[in-house]
Amino acid sequence: MKPHQHRPETEAVRGGSDLSKKNGPLATPIYQTSTFEVTDSDQQVRATHTDMFYTRYGNPTHTVAETAIAELEGADAALLFSSGMTAITTTVLALLKSGDHVVAQRDIYGGVTKFFTQWLPKLGIETAFVGTTDYDQHVRAIRPNTRLLYLESPTNPTLRVVDLKKVSAIARQHKLISMIDSTFATPINQRPLEFGIDLVMHSGTKYFGGHADVICGILAGRQDLVDKVHETRTTLGGVMDPHAAWLLLRGIKSLAVRVQRQNENALRVAQFLANHPKVKRVHYPFLEGHPQRALAMEQMRGGGGVLSFEVDGSGEDARRVAEFLRLFTLAPSLGGVESLVTIPVLTSHAMISAQERAEMGVTEQLIRLAVGIENADDLIHDLDHGLSVLAASGQHAEVARR
Ligand SMILES: Cc1ncc(COP(=O)(O)O)c(C=O)c1O
Repeated sequence: MKPHQHRPETEAVRGGSDLSKKNGPLATPIYQTSTFEVTDSDQQVRATHTDMFYTRYGNPTHTVAETAIAELEGADAALLFSSGMTAITTTVLALLKSGDHVVAQRDIYGGVTKFFTQWLPKLGIETAFVGTTDYDQHVRAIRPNTRLLYLESPTNPTLRVVDLKKVSAIARQHKLISMIDSTFATPINQRPLEFGIDLVMHSGTKYFGGHADVICGILAGRQDLVDKVHETRTTLGGVMDPHAAWLLLRGIKSLAVRVQRQNENALRVAQFLANHPKVKRVHYPFLEGHPQRALAMEQMRGGGGVLSFEVDGSGEDARRVAEFLRLFTLAPSLGGVESLVTIPVLTSHAMISAQERAEMGVTEQLIRLAVGIENADDLIHDLDHGLSVLAASGQHAEVARR
């Protein structure tokens, strides 16, 4: 883990920049090129190990974004990928071999569950899924051939918070690589490497990009591990296009201010919902009553922009509320400037069996909100209007669509 040069707000804006006085562009140029020319064969050989050889290996626009991300995470190095899923699959394929074993927490992103259960077995790699906050179960699941401990915190969509110190201690004791999906937190709210986690990944599609216009994956961590993954990324080819990497870099500059605003907005929204008569339960890490609130406040600087709540009614009622919202757009993503709403049983958790969903606490009545940077009072007003579709008696009220 590298010491931070600046505070996160400064790292987000200036990370990766050359701060020396010079005559040059302030904004990073987009190296929109697939290849780089050289003067002679000697230079060609030297270029192979730089970011000016061939863009599948690396690209100067990528390098600036990767350096900024490494600074934000306090990592030795970082890598960009064409999607969050590519970051995960490339990393796992780089670090594991046939006969290895994975211990993974149950509440991880559905695409990763699918990769672990449907793809890794074809390569002779098995996964044991454990209760996300049951750390004894983690230890019991470890076998002599276990190599990777995979986790996500906070989790989707019920916002469970994993004890990062405990999990990294378990990994260290058993000589496992620990890898966290920290998408919901961002390095503004949580820096997992400070707790001893080896690798941190993000769907950069979400908060890093921040404007719902790029698909991106990010990995950051120890140099030796990142180097191995880099080699595999070059072979498998899941790199970002330079223009998309530039959009990402532009997003990163405002990451800190966006996330701080989203933290404030989400907490206000969570508090409003917690006091609403038609809301049964609210999941938000920094909300009074959250089972791991003390832990969240210890290891996170803010609760993040995502929360979920159960309406006091049926699954159909939850859908009606979601459809009545105007400022919260019905769309399955998070981390952008616009607020979004989804019904997890219809989107992220549609492929999971009803029993598994029940074990995870993902009910038909659950609504997930990804809070944006709009005015919190306007968002609360929208939710108040949306919830008024449910009459106090439990019958549907006639509420005019605005
Ligand atoms: C927590 C989390 N991890 C990983 C992913 C996969 O990222 P991507 O869609 O960028 O491949 C997602 C996507 O929704 C996600 O929410």
